[in-house]
Amino acid sequence: TIETIYAAVLGYVLGSIPFGLLLARMAGLGDVRNIGSGNIGATNVLRTGNKGVAAATLLMDLAKGLAPVLIAKAIWPGSEGVAAVAAVLGHCFPVWLGFRGGKGVATNAGVSFGLGWPIGLAYALVWLGMLGVLRISSVAGMSAVVAAVIAAALLGYPQYVVPLALIAVVVLWLHRANIARLMRGEEPKVGSKK
Ligand code: G3P
Repeated sequence: TIETIYAAVLGYVLGSIPFGLLLARMAGLGDVRNIGSGNIGATNVLRTGNKGVAAATLLMDLAKGLAPVLIAKAIWPGSEGVAAVAAVLGHCFPVWLGFRGGKGVATNAGVSFGLGWPIGLAYALVWLGMLGVLRISSVAGMSAVVAAVIAAALLGYPQYVVPLALIAVVVLWLHRANIARLMRGEEPKVGSKK
């Protein structure tokens, strides 16, 4: 339907705003694509040493996933799953950056809260819990992304299992360099430079 297309466009456009790149540049921290992992997400912005800009990146990347899902739910009910997938695809493959964007973990947190607060809560608990225990951003993020799929299935949101599973496949694929580093024992802990 036309509503589905509106939801997809809204999700993609909001999702594709590269807050990490923009905020770091505005703060005079340079191009985050040239440091650390080269990613434009909050984890890599933190490698500049600026915690405030990293926190702002996390919040804005989360908000741009939350907003289109809530808007789609309110005005085009039933299309929020499409808005969710589109927002994460926008973040991960922004046309403005030659389709080279982030890895989707923060945006999918916002998406999860928008689809259903219990899914968001499960996401946040797994993400922060794993981060607290292991202090490895990629593992925490990948765990949360998978947890959202399971939470949707178990907590009464079967209609969101497929969108969240599609997102999980994309996010895990984008973490393949992280997975390779993990297997070599070379994945850095959160907050450490490089
Ligand atoms: O959300 C991205 C995070 O999971 C990994 O980031 O910069 O360590 O590849 P990075």
